[in-house]
Amino acid sequence: MNYTTISVTKENLYATIQFQRTEVLNALNMQLMQELVDALETLDKDDEVRAIILTGNEKAFAAGADIKEMAEASAMDMLNRDQFARWDKIRKIKKPIIAAVSGFALGGGCELVMTCDIVVASETAKFGQPEINIGVMPGAGGTQRLTRAVGKVKAMEIVLTGKIFSAQEALQWGLINKVVPVEYYLKEAKNIAKEIASKPPIAVRLAKEAILKSFDTTIESGLEFERKNFYLLFASDDQKEGMKAFVEKRKAEWKGK
Ligand code: HXC
Repeated sequence: MNYTTISVTKENLYATIQFQRTEVLNALNMQLMQELVDALETLDKDDEVRAIILTGNEKAFAAGADIKEMAEASAMDMLNRDQFARWDKIRKIKKPIIAAVSGFALGGGCELVMTCDIVVASETAKFGQPEINIGVMPGAGGTQRLTRAVGKVKAMEIVLTGKIFSAQEALQWGLINKVVPVEYYLKEAKNIAKEIASKPPIAVRLAKEAILKSFDTTIESGLEFERKNFYLLFASDDQKEGMKAFVEKRKAEWKGK
């Protein structure tokens, strides 16, 4: 598929998806979301890719859903567009997704960041859920994922005031992993992608799955799920190779099998 709102590049076992609607601060219109889902699903099946980076540019990761596309819509238009089905597909991507954020990550942009597994931000990144200022509220997980990440009172403050907060605050509140100078945010995301890509892919996949499971289960069934994934890894060649390499004091060679 030829994309017009995103670009995809592959290097050394990881891929980078970059938003290309710079003239509107990468506002997430339906075409971009469709192309994003298509690219993610394609990369998820690609054996040459073991981690995926999502990024925008220095000025904006994404300034939210495209307001112009929604402004005149009725509730029934929104229902029929069923745009959140695309977001559900992003949640089902099995490979780790790393967000490399600079500039604005607002509304749907902030929600997209929270859908990613690891987040690196530049010192200039600005986060927020400003939907309240345009008469709506977060609709792509902002009230749920944000609350789980930062707790009830902070989530209330962020969502009900619509205030923009800094990368440092996001770090302090546990929303992101790392803040680096703007020259390095993409480089640092690539370092993390490379590191994850050097690990056994099936173990990475099952570990991501088990961590995500913790969001919608009790501790009892979450532990059971974890245990089953742990046992399952003993059916992989990589587990045999990893443990044998440790005993033989050499570097393991992963086959992804
Ligand atoms: C459509 C957008 C946009 C958006 C910016 N633009 N954000 N277009 N949807 N979300 C466009 C502007 O219209 C403008 O185009 C160009 O990008 C540059 O933006 P400016 O406003 O001129 O830039 P600046 O003065 O630097 O202000 C930056 C900003 C502001 C503070 C980020 O653009 C802003 O407040 N944007 C909206 C943020 C927002 O409310 N996001 C939540 C959306 S609702 P023109 O053609 O005029 O030059 C949402 C719901 C999620 O996300 C639900 C799930 C999907």
